[in-house]
Amino acid sequence: MSIKVEKVSVIYQKKTPFEQRALNNVSLTINQGDILGIYGLTGSGKSTLLQTLNGLIKPDSGNIIVDGVAVNKLKGSQITELRHKVGMIFQYPELQIFERNVFEEIAFGLKNIGLKGEQLKKRVTKALDLVDMSFDEFKDRSPFTLSSGQKKRITIASVLACKPKYLLFDEPTTGLDTTGRTKLLSHINEINNLEGITSVLVSHKIEELVTVCNKLIIMANGEIALKGTALEVIQQAEKNGLVEPITIRNIANNLKQRGFKLEKNILNIEDLSNEIIKALNERGNNSDFRY
Ligand SMILES: Nc1ncnc2c1ncn2[C@@H]1O[C@H](COP(=O)(O)OP(=O)(O)O)[C@@H](O)[C@H]1O
Ligand SMILES: [Mg+2]
Repeated sequence: MSIKVEKVSVIYQKKTPFEQRALNNVSLTINQGDILGIYGLTGSGKSTLLQTLNGLIKPDSGNIIVDGVAVNKLKGSQITELRHKVGMIFQYPELQIFERNVFEEIAFGLKNIGLKGEQLKKRVTKALDLVDMSFDEFKDRSPFTLSSGQKKRITIASVLACKPKYLLFDEPTTGLDTTGRTKLLSHINEINNLEGITSVLVSHKIEELVTVCNKLIIMANGEIALKGTALEVIQQAEKNGLVEPITIRNIANNLKQRGFKLEKNILNIEDLSNEIIKALNERGNNSDFRY
């Protein structure tokens, strides 16, 4: 099971003086279980690529194949099914919220597919649970009174309630403070671990992507400049100057230069903590540390 992007090009405002090629012959496979990060500067085509994945934007050429089915061949209710299978969380969640309370907000899509009563309540409770929000505490609250982080989690819960296999996040941490950002990224990780949901995250912040993504692509001018495992891509991107220096990797390099034996190639804070504790244990400096 996978999403395949085959030689996709997207041109906006075709045949006008404003014609803009946003994607140029992009090919990519997103495998089940992946958390894929899409990094690139503003205007590089990230959001356009994301929206082709669930059929919101139709390619001018090329194909999107979701679990073996070509998206451009789908009609009517098949398109609704696709949108449930490949859920989208837009950059500004407040634009996706319109119901009077949290329960109705999350139940909306489910009512459309005929769920009601106990079954409906169960689905809503489970979806809220996945983003660490209690049903009893939040069900009657107006979504508009919630914080940005909570609003974002509500939109994720409404998409999760439809049992997606794939989740697409466009700049998910926009407008969140450090705590909100950390929490959200850990939810994305948990949803992947617990429910096996494949996620694609668009961000212009490389530091965030390396904390959760196992695969990474870097986009430039509507094309994929690099793709591979997060580590492969970061190593190559550092050589080519395609990414800003990553703080955690700088700290690791600094420690190595000072004689710390860090075995693993370090990408994020978890790697760094584990390696420091391992190095300390091996030195026998402090046998109380465990990782
Ligand atoms: N609706 C649109 N009409 C015309 N041009 C657009 C539209 N949306 C995006 N573009 C252009 O397409 C290019 C890629 O945009 P986008 O996919 O939004 O990039 P990113 O998400 O990486 O910032 C940019 O040059 C942008 O100005
Ligand atoms: Mg964008």
